[in-house]
Amino acid sequence: MGFSGKVILITGAAGGIGKATAKAFALEGAKLALVDLDEDMLQTVAEELNIPKGDCLLISANVTNEQEVQNYVRKTKETFGRIDVFFNNAGVEGKFGMITDISAESLDQVLNVNVKGVFYGLKHVMAIMLDQKSGSIINTSSTAGLLGVPGLAPYVASKHAIIGLTKTAALECAASGVRVNAICPSPVNTRMMRSIESGAAPENAEAAKELITQTIPFGRYGEPEEIAQLVLFLGSQKASFITGGSYPIDGGQTVL
Ligand SMILES: NC(=O)c1ccc[n+]([C@@H]2O[C@H](COP(=O)([O-])OP(=O)(O)OC[C@H]3O[C@@H](n4cnc5c(N)ncnc54)[C@H](O)[C@@H]3O)[C@@H](O)[C@H]2O)c1
Repeated sequence: MGFSGKVILITGAAGGIGKATAKAFALEGAKLALVDLDEDMLQTVAEELNIPKGDCLLISANVTNEQEVQNYVRKTKETFGRIDVFFNNAGVEGKFGMITDISAESLDQVLNVNVKGVFYGLKHVMAIMLDQKSGSIINTSSTAGLLGVPGLAPYVASKHAIIGLTKTAALECAASGVRVNAICPSPVNTRMMRSIESGAAPENAEAAKELITQTIPFGRYGEPEEIAQLVLFLGSQKASFITGGSYPIDGGQTVL
């Protein structure tokens, strides 16, 4: 896909989707800057990727803190000289519960990571890409950015917000040739879904998984490797006329 020697920055890189995407880019010969809150997991992911040390930068950062975001962007630019693809992906699901039961702290936690974290990433990476007059940004929304999901209001609000941010960033970048898109995965087999299943039905998470699966016409969750392929496509020159879009990757979930 033409990523050999390209510089790819990924947040949430120690998680299920981030790691699968890092692997797919590594197989293409890209240079990687991997960001996550979880430093130990980041180290484990880097060992699994098995790419030359000089081609992989690990940065522990909390995306809710603008200075830490500025720092991960600066380190990437200092190390590799540019940023070609930014996968703005770190996110949290928050606590499961009715709107009437969600605490202010719980709402803040989700909005801070999923909205402010994505916003700060856009702010600091866009500055570099606008200067370069090239680059592709992929923000991770969700089918929860397109639909309502009872029990997950803060998460749903945050993922809808990412679609608005994506459209606005795409317009602000259009004249420079920088592209900005969002992906909207349905449930994917990662830690996050295990947490949502046990939040929805603490006594019977398996039954919750079964019910959620029934909302997907393909009759299964997505796999992180499948999501990675959409990120690679949107990051590549094959998507040269695509910007401002939000793409479901959902086994048909949003068609129903
Ligand atoms: N798994 C799904 O079903 C699904 C579906 C649609 C969208 N998504 C979205 O995909 C993205 C990745 O999710 P995943 O399934 O890989 O989950 P995950 O929990 O496996 O990975 C999320 C990663 O983000 C990191 N992270 C969380 N808060 C952070 C912070 N403040 N600063 C830096 N890093 C932080 C975590 O440490 C973790 O490694 C998220 O934005 C999620 O909302 C997931």
